[in-house]
Amino acid sequence: MLRTSCLVLLLAGCDAAPSEDPAVDDAAALDGAALDATPPDAAPDAAPLDAAPLDATPDAALPPPLPSLEGPAVAPDLDPDPRVVEIELRASAARYRLGADLEIDGLAYNGQSPGPTIQARVGDELVVRFKNDLDEATTIHWHGLRIPDDMDGSPRIQAPVQPGETFTYRFVLPDAGTFWYHPHVNAHTDVELGLQGMLIVHEAEPPVFARERLLVIDDVLVENGRIPPPFRNRPELMHGRYGNLLLTNGTTEPKAGVAREGDVERWRLVNTANGRFMDLSLEGARFRVIGTDGGLLAQPYETQRLSVAIGQRYDLEVTYDRPGTARLISHIPVLEGENVVVRPFDIQSIEVAATGSAPQPVALPEVAPPARGRANQTAVLTFTVVEDAETGVRWLLNGQDGGHDSHHAGHPEPMFTFQQGDYVRLVLDNRAGPTHPFHLHGQFFEILPDGRPETEQPGLKDTVLVPGLSQVTVFARMDNPGRWMAHCHILEHASLGMMTEFLVEPAE
Ligand code: C2O
Ligand code: CU
Ligand code: CU
Repeated sequence: MLRTSCLVLLLAGCDAAPSEDPAVDDAAALDGAALDATPPDAAPDAAPLDAAPLDATPDAALPPPLPSLEGPAVAPDLDPDPRVVEIELRASAARYRLGADLEIDGLAYNGQSPGPTIQARVGDELVVRFKNDLDEATTIHWHGLRIPDDMDGSPRIQAPVQPGETFTYRFVLPDAGTFWYHPHVNAHTDVELGLQGMLIVHEAEPPVFARERLLVIDDVLVENGRIPPPFRNRPELMHGRYGNLLLTNGTTEPKAGVAREGDVERWRLVNTANGRFMDLSLEGARFRVIGTDGGLLAQPYETQRLSVAIGQRYDLEVTYDRPGTARLISHIPVLEGENVVVRPFDIQSIEVAATGSAPQPVALPEVAPPARGRANQTAVLTFTVVEDAETGVRWLLNGQDGGHDSHHAGHPEPMFTFQQGDYVRLVLDNRAGPTHPFHLHGQFFEILPDGRPETEQPGLKDTVLVPGLSQVTVFARMDNPGRWMAHCHILEHASLGMMTEFLVEPAE
């Protein structure tokens, strides 16, 4: 049993310069009691959607049924065509529950936070009929999808949807993988208030696991029963907001589930916090990483710890090789008296029933290793910070202030112009204290050693953690033409200037 029952203090930005350490002047209390375990939820698995295509002709091959998902409920598909997923999404103010006796006023898609899970199959067309019932303009960004730029929710391309208005997002899903969606106007405020959800794109022939679990991992700051407005103090300007409550799929209640010894599951997780990266481990079961931002890996790998940057996704294969309790744990620095101690908090716990059966390996689809090339371009992005009389600080990329993320005139020109097909060596040079999770829209990249083997990470990514005062090099194949936002995914940093655009010109 983990010791999480005392009142502890969550520390922000443990990688920060000491003078900027928010814990010193602003440690937020985490009510550890809310994380105590309750009996496992024995609810049966949800039934798979789209199991029976309605209009298949006898000679058409039926697509295999989609796996069932345990997690935030799946949005119903309103289109009977098996290759089109059509859903309705409505953003509005909502009062929703974070825990047994905690309700807050926030924002939600379809009244729930996280919003409904969208699931489809690679190659399907996704149609999202969106209605904005917020009292501010907004867009929806499909984080990680390589879709046309005018469907990407960039407020520099799409005029934001005004209050009371509608917009239809429509695009083909090019890649299988674990993705998410969130607004790209006032994101630092509105994601914290609850606007976010998962988007699962299944492989053409999905591997058959005992079940798939979705884990939206987040934290939220609640003070006096409400989520306070942004930028309330200097630590938030420096590190983004750190919450005092850990959420799994929108609840502070411990996420409990059941499985059987011998089961092999797929877990899909995303870190949707504003400022906090997650350092995870799993006990009581075996796991390996089978997918990253860009989908399944050519070569799954084992690890003890998994560091999940804001916006990153991981797919894990979890194998229950013994009965008992399996726990996914987030290791979080907390302040106890005068000391900073890293404490374990449950993200998910599973009661594994004894069966005596040995796990059978799950056949994964063949995945070709990412296409590499010889880098024909090098681009350098420096991350710095300056004081600002009005907003406190500004966060800069190559010395440029990208403005805020809303739709207004006067954005700087794209920082770089590439040609479709360019293979770009992108050096991310963090010269300012805190870690920055760098995110690029519309393309994937690989984190290759480039002389520093310790920085390599397997798989395709769209987000990478760049630790303080260090460099990380990524190699991006610019194969999706358009104008693409590139920014720090600490949403407060993006909002305070750490935001730019890359232009990818189409090949003729
Ligand atoms: Cu999660 Cu600009 O994105
Ligand atoms: Cu994105
Ligand atoms: Cu940042």
